Amino acid sequence: MVTKIAVFASGSGSNFEAIVEAVINKKIKNAEITLLLTDKENIYAIERAKKYNIKTVTHIAKNFETKKHYEEEVLKTLKEEKIEFIVLAGYMRLIGETLLNVYEGKIINIHPSILPAFKGKDAIKMALDYGVKYTGVSIHWVDSGMDTGKIIDQEVVKIDENENYETLAKKIHKIEHKLYPDVINRILNKQ
Ligand code: GAR
Repeated sequence: MVTKIAVFASGSGSNFEAIVEAVINKKIKNAEITLLLTDKENIYAIERAKKYNIKTVTHIAKNFETKKHYEEEVLKTLKEEKIEFIVLAGYMRLIGETLLNVYEGKIINIHPSILPAFKGKDAIKMALDYGVKYTGVSIHWVDSGMDTGKIIDQEVVKIDENENYETLAKKIHKIEHKLYPDVINRILNKQ
């Protein structure tokens, strides 16, 4: 049985592309990336979706009166596409109760730190500024909090003496692009 997946993104979409490639290469089995949903126009994730002929829908939250109205529109799109599973990949917005009521237990997120350390935006910079020697990547179920849901998997990255933002971000992305597809495959195929 093929699971229809929507990936939500707000930026570059490198994780989105890694997931799409993993589906193509059968590293993720029994999945279809049906939709890219974005909350911004003109982001590079949309260009990546074009390359693979994946439908993109953009809803701009500030064009709606409330978060509930925004999420109702998102929900409508997800229903139209019969989406069964949601993967947040650099989607910089808290999921509210309108979406959670329908999709709780079916939404996962990736975060560039070893949670519960460095929640929220700029986790890579926060780790560098703090001076920790190790950081990493976490993948977790999404609940109503910010990066608070049950952890599914994590991988550690060592911060070297001469590390800067670019070198650390590169190491973290490399791990993300492998770990996220692995976790998605495990969840969908109950491994
Ligand atoms: C990723 O590093 C992801 O872990 C992070 O945003 C980046 C998106 O990159 N997410 C968060 O910080 C969530 N709090 P991408 O657009 O190239 O996939």
